[in-house]
Amino acid sequence: MKNVMIVIGTRPEAIKMAPVYHELRSRSTLRTTLVVTAQHREMLDQVLNALSLVPDADLDIMKNRQTINNIISAVLEKMPAVFESFKPDVLLVHGDTATTLASSLAAFHAGITVAHVEAGLRSWDKAAPFPEEVHRQMVDDIADIYFAPTTLSRANLLKEGKPEAAIHITGNTAIDALKLTVREDYSSPDLDWAAGSRLILLTAHRRENQGAPMLSVFRAIRRIIDDFPDVKAIYPVHLNPVVREAANAVFGSGNERVRLIEPLDVIDFHNFLKRSYMTLTDSGGIQEEAPSLNVPVLVARDVTERPEGISAGTLKLVGTDEENVYNAIAELLTNNELREKMAKAPNPYGDGLASKRIADILEAL
Ligand code: UD1
Ligand code: UDP
Repeated sequence: MKNVMIVIGTRPEAIKMAPVYHELRSRSTLRTTLVVTAQHREMLDQVLNALSLVPDADLDIMKNRQTINNIISAVLEKMPAVFESFKPDVLLVHGDTATTLASSLAAFHAGITVAHVEAGLRSWDKAAPFPEEVHRQMVDDIADIYFAPTTLSRANLLKEGKPEAAIHITGNTAIDALKLTVREDYSSPDLDWAAGSRLILLTAHRRENQGAPMLSVFRAIRRIIDDFPDVKAIYPVHLNPVVREAANAVFGSGNERVRLIEPLDVIDFHNFLKRSYMTLTDSGGIQEEAPSLNVPVLVARDVTERPEGISAGTLKLVGTDEENVYNAIAELLTNNELREKMAKAPNPYGDGLASKRIADILEAL
């Protein structure tokens, strides 16, 4: 029997590895263990609870205002003992976080095969997203098996000389996760509050946006709320204290048409997203989920490693300049044809069967 270990540290890794975890656990030829570094604590635990993920080991490393080096050194320090206890044949990592990079490197040092889920995404800009672009390139140098979500991510890996036989196009597991969360009969007091208005769902957290760029995005939203009386905004604020300070500086504790709330658990968030008129975000994962839910996405960044959504027509890069962000939101609010076109664009990120393909490939190794 093959021993497969999944390691996750943050909210998005947990969401996108949840369907993989459940699929692997259903296969009798595999023994699957789950390790959490808890680079995120509360936001990770929300996902573990909502999606029934039960860790076999918890490194519990999160510190308030931690640096990237704090995370990487703690994970490098603690992973060897975990490998010693569980003796995995394969380590399955996701994406581009500090947890992903450090655990892959520790596995490489221990002679363990590394399989990378969501391999091959590239913005080709080391500064954006920072540090994730460099992390994912390094993880792909370390990895032995690549689960590329799209033909473009496969092409990126081939361009870098990764062996063709090691690359598998699977689709993105974010789409699989939506099957675990989206419910037709979902309701919540916040959505009742927004009923009858056009809802903008806002999220922000990127390191390179912290400070002036984030403040200007928030100011644009505030002006939109002032200028469009039928618009309401809900903003589940990331627990990073730097982000919370910026949110409070511009929105205070909210006003009658802007609600600042705590991070939503993933079931709530996906259902809020499905009922939104649009989302404004600098998140990676939301760029993949929203096209499946027919929600237009304005991306508060200058570059994205997910250009498939731009080609498909659901995503639009709007940067962080206050005027540009204001104009892009106002355009979607006033041009119904444009909004409909973005909403109805096809989802380029897969068919919801990525986890099954990943499990089949691991079984056949
Ligand atoms: C990390 C990832 C980023 C990912 C994001 C998802 C890296 C380098 N960055 O960024 O790729 O998009 O997670 O949200 O790995 N905090 C809490 N409780 C929590 C979570 C965070 O209090 O549950 C606070 C802590 O003060 C922590 C800070 O947020 O020190 C920042 O967390 P960290 O994981 O370092 O960075 P993120 O910006 O969340
Ligand atoms: N998300 C959530 N609750 C929230 C905000 C986001 O569950 O309040 C989910 C969202 O659906 C997506 C993931 O968290 O799956 C994105 O996480 P984040 O934006 O923190 O990280 P990124 O995707 O940018 O790495």
